[in-house]
Amino acid sequence: MSMFLIISTAWAVTALVLLAVAWWLVRVGKIVLHRNIMIVLTVGAWIFILNYIFVQRYGGELGPFPSEYVPWMALHGSLGLVPLIGATCLVVGRLMTGRNKFSTHFNQHHKAYGRTFVVVWFFTHLGGIFNAIFLR
Ligand code: HEM
Repeated sequence: MSMFLIISTAWAVTALVLLAVAWWLVRVGKIVLHRNIMIVLTVGAWIFILNYIFVQRYGGELGPFPSEYVPWMALHGSLGLVPLIGATCLVVGRLMTGRNKFSTHFNQHHKAYGRTFVVVWFFTHLGGIFNAIFLR
């Protein structure tokens, strides 16, 4: 297994655990810990995606995917953008509380958006683990 796939899998497993912990924390009222974990996960997701693009563009470590994987990879990547952009909106919304309509919107609907994004995020990481197993 390449170093990239090892790191990807470790990140996917870590993120899956942290997502579950962050959800549980908010339900038991530990908002600050929920906040901190979600910020770490969101920043981590951006680093992961940018690194992935960089590796694909310049590293070539993974090589081209077998053609039968292309539709799946397109679906996986597109689905991954939903929680990535969504979580960024939720974090930015909270950090800019009271400053504009954007933050008001995302703060008012934080719970509904959060539940949706966490579930999609969860399945995206499960897809990532599937990739690591089948592309190794
Ligand atoms: C600066 C970052 C964040 C802060 C300060 C924060 C804070 C909170 C707070 C105070 C709640 C309680 C309900 C409410 O106020 O609406 C909550 C709920 C929730 N948050 Fe966050 N959050 C942050 C980021 C995120 C992100 C990025 C996600 C997911 C993508 C997320 C997912 C959730 C979920 C799923 C709930 C509802 C839990 C439940 O009752 O089922 N949060 N958050």
